[in-house]
Amino acid sequence: MGNAAGVLRGAGLHPWSAEADAQGIFGLVAAAILAPSPHNTQPWRFTTGPDWLNVYADDARVMGTVDPERRERTIALGAAIENVVVAAPAKALTVAVTLLPDGPDADLVARIEVRPAHVELTPLAEAIPNRHTNRGPFRAEAVAPELLAEIGAAGDLAAAVRWIVEPGARSALGELLVDAAQAIADDDAMSRDGYSWFRPSGAAIEAHRDGLTVDGQGLAAPVRVAAKLVPALASRSMADAAWVKQTRTVHTRTAAAYGAVLVADPTSRLDQLTGGRLAQRVHLTATTVDLALQHMNQITERIDRDRVAGRPAGTAARLAQILGPDAPHLLCLFRVGWPARPGKASPRRAAHQVVAHDG
Ligand SMILES: Cc1cc2nc3c(=O)[nH]c(=O)nc-3n(C[C@H](O)[C@H](O)[C@H](O)COP(=O)(O)O)c2cc1C
Repeated sequence: MGNAAGVLRGAGLHPWSAEADAQGIFGLVAAAILAPSPHNTQPWRFTTGPDWLNVYADDARVMGTVDPERRERTIALGAAIENVVVAAPAKALTVAVTLLPDGPDADLVARIEVRPAHVELTPLAEAIPNRHTNRGPFRAEAVAPELLAEIGAAGDLAAAVRWIVEPGARSALGELLVDAAQAIADDDAMSRDGYSWFRPSGAAIEAHRDGLTVDGQGLAAPVRVAAKLVPALASRSMADAAWVKQTRTVHTRTAAAYGAVLVADPTSRLDQLTGGRLAQRVHLTATTVDLALQHMNQITERIDRDRVAGRPAGTAARLAQILGPDAPHLLCLFRVGWPARPGKASPRRAAHQVVAHDG
C-alpha cells in the first residue's frame, strides 16, 4: 500500500501501511508509534494486558544537550497517547487515559484502560498514517484565519495554540529561529548530540529504523539524490550548515503561520503531555485538509540549554519581545502552510519491537 508520499520502501517504512489493519490493543500500539518525536527518537515502550495499555518513557532514547530537561521527549509521548485516543474508535475500542499515575518522575507516563465499543471511523483516525513532518517549501498562499482557528481548537485539553500570522511578528520569529539554529550548530555538544540521530545511509536507516534521514528533509528530488550520493553531505558540519540554510531559505521564508503551543507551566510533565496531545491533534487535523506542518523547536532548545548551563538568557529575552507575556508559557512551536510537495514517511521501529505483554 502506498501513502501520500508515494510507494513505501524498506522494512522501516512498513509500520505506516500496517497500522490500518492492526486491531485490538496491539492496534493501539501500532497507531502510537506513528507519532512524531524529536529527531525521530521514538522514546517510547509499551506493556499490554487483556484490557489495558501502559505507556513508558524510554530512558535510552534521549537527545542529551539538545533536550536537557526532556521536555521534547515528554511532548512526543503526549503525541503518542493522542494517537491512541484518536485511533481507538476506529478499532472498535474505547479508552480511559490516566496520565502520570505514579507521579511526574516515573517512567510510566500513562495507564490506559481499554474496552470494546462500536466501530467509528473518523477523519482524524484516517489521518494517523498520512501525517508526516514537512520540511519542504510551502506555497506563498495564506491560510484562512477560520481554518487556523479550527485546526488549533484545544477542545477538552488544558493547553492552547496561539497563531503568529502578522508579518512583523512572523519575520521576527523567523530571524530568531535562524539564529537559534546557528547557535546550535556552533555549540559543539548540541551539534554532536543532534547529529547522533542522523541516519546518512539506507543501511543505517534499516538497522536503526529511527532518526533523521535525507528523505525527510523536504529537498527537491535532484538535490535529494545528490545528497545521498555525495558522502561529504553525511558529515556533521555539512549537515548542520544545510539545516541552518534550509531554516533561513525555506522553513522560515515560506512559513504561512507559526503555531505556538502554550501551557500553564512548560516544565510540568503533565503540561508537556497535554501540550503534546494538542500538538498532535493539530497535526492530524491539518493532515485532513492537506495543510503541511513542521515542528520547529530550536528556540526552546536554546532557552533550555542556556538555563541549564547558567548562561545569560539572550534567546529568552528576544522571544519575550515577540510573544510578550505568553513567552514563559511556550511549550513548543511549529510552522504551517500549503505544501509545494508532500512530506515523506520517516522510518519507525515496528510495534512488536516496542511492546511487551504483561498479564
Ligand atoms: C517534540 C518534538 C520536537 C520536534 N522538533 C523538531 C524541530 O525542531 N525541527 C524539525 O524539523 N522537526 C522537529 N520535530 C519533528 C520530528 O523530527 C519528526 O516527528 C520525526 O523525524 C518523525 O517524522 P514524522 O513526523 O514525519 O513522522 C519534532 C517533533 C516533536 C514531537
